[in-house]
Amino acid sequence: MLLTMVQTAYIVAAVLFILALAGLSKHESAKVGNMAGMIGMVIALGATIAESLTCRAPAEGEIAHCEYAMARPMTALLLFAAVLIGAAIGVWRARTVEMTGMPQLIAILHSFVGIAAVLVGFNSFLAADTHNAAHLVEVALGVLIGAYTFTGSVVAFGKLSGRMKSKPMTLPARNLLNLLVFLVSVGFMVWFVVAPSVVPLIVIAVIGFALGWHMVASIGGGDMPVVVSMLNSYSGWAAAAAGFMLNNNLLIVTGALVGASGAILSYIMCKGMNRSFISVILGGFGEGAGPAIEARDYGEHREIMADGAAELLKTAKRVIITPGYGMAVAKAQGPVAQLTQKLRDEGVDVRFGIHPVAGRLPGHMNVLLAEARVPYDIVLEMDEINEDFDDTDVVLVIGANDTVNPAALEEPNSPIAGMPVLEVWHSDNVIVFKRSMAAGYAGVQNPLFFKENTQMLFGDAKDRVEDIIKAL
Ligand code: TAP
Repeated sequence: MLLTMVQTAYIVAAVLFILALAGLSKHESAKVGNMAGMIGMVIALGATIAESLTCRAPAEGEIAHCEYAMARPMTALLLFAAVLIGAAIGVWRARTVEMTGMPQLIAILHSFVGIAAVLVGFNSFLAADTHNAAHLVEVALGVLIGAYTFTGSVVAFGKLSGRMKSKPMTLPARNLLNLLVFLVSVGFMVWFVVAPSVVPLIVIAVIGFALGWHMVASIGGGDMPVVVSMLNSYSGWAAAAAGFMLNNNLLIVTGALVGASGAILSYIMCKGMNRSFISVILGGFGEGAGPAIEARDYGEHREIMADGAAELLKTAKRVIITPGYGMAVAKAQGPVAQLTQKLRDEGVDVRFGIHPVAGRLPGHMNVLLAEARVPYDIVLEMDEINEDFDDTDVVLVIGANDTVNPAALEEPNSPIAGMPVLEVWHSDNVIVFKRSMAAGYAGVQNPLFFKENTQMLFGDAKDRVEDIIKAL
């Protein structure tokens, strides 16, 4: 009876996870989607704890956790305690993390899934008395993907949080090296399945750790967004592999959902950044980064003060705002929303242009603007607005840099070459809000700052936008 209820709860949780994904695909339904996901997770955790109280014959290769009647309540209690501790840490982190710190938090969370898959793999191999080939393949794959996800995510965390330099590590013939190491790991997997022992499994884990580390270390800063979503996908497949090893259907379904949706998101982001999906999977990013373009002399930049910017805006009919990571750092979205409202009240047509990788995670800018109550219908994607800059009086580039860098189109040797950008320089006037002439995340200089129709408005973006509101 309890087992039937548990299986029913798993199906309900799986349906809620699917509804969560569907809801998260649109701004309007994102909150409901999030709620569906949270309810699904509570049901899933409750069902997992309840399942530990049930007893069924273990499948081949599975650990018989319920042989001893006394052990069952203890297992449930331990699981409950683990859930409580995890939930407390989760609530604390969710309340304290800055929006700008989300990508590194997500990266480190992926690493937990990876290491969990490795541990489950070793446990399920060492604790079972007999093994069939299918179970051994599950274990080998789970350990390899888990180990890869773990170190890859740790490196991504290091790069995103600034603890590691974002420049790509370029070992000679690294693609060949990756391929060779991968083939060696396939050899060890065959050894493990044919003659099961812990030695090849340890080697598989070490190869996975090394591959994950090397592949993400070889990726340049500008390409990190795709890598984070790719690691998200890998963490899903690692969870699905753990589900197979634990014979847990919900974990298989959830892992597959995360794995597939992460892969689709990576594909969309690759298209958005004009990168090859295959080269991301194989960790081939960062190549083609020729001579550093920072060394170039682009000439002198021009500066403007808040009063001057206000004067320009007073006479403007069409304004586009292109926010970036700096808007999030400055927490300028509130004043930006006020400025937008003020200009719209004066009859100015104000719209926002959002680059697919603006900020530090997909949808970062959309979330900030939605929180500041900027109407959804004036927030447009890059493809929807890129043609309109020609016909725009003033563009306010607020804390964006790489996403408005013409070098992506004009400099074949640039690390961001080929990445589509918001072509803000086609408008009559561009005002760039930033604190200095420093480069953006990809570490390349931005020729936009030196164009004739561009003026730099230096200082913290929030302060400067508030100054403009006062001057208006
Ligand atoms: P960035 O290229 O990182 O530029 C942000 C700019 O904001 C910097 O040049 C910085 O200049 C300025 N800034 C920082 N704090 C500021 C403040 N308080 N006030 C005013 N300006 C401030 O940002 P972007 O254009 O949004 O591009 C995103 C980059 O991040 C891309 O390279 C992308 O590939 C990468 N990335 C994206 C993601 C996703 S999924 N979106 C994930 C990881 C990485 P100053 O220091 O001179 O002020």
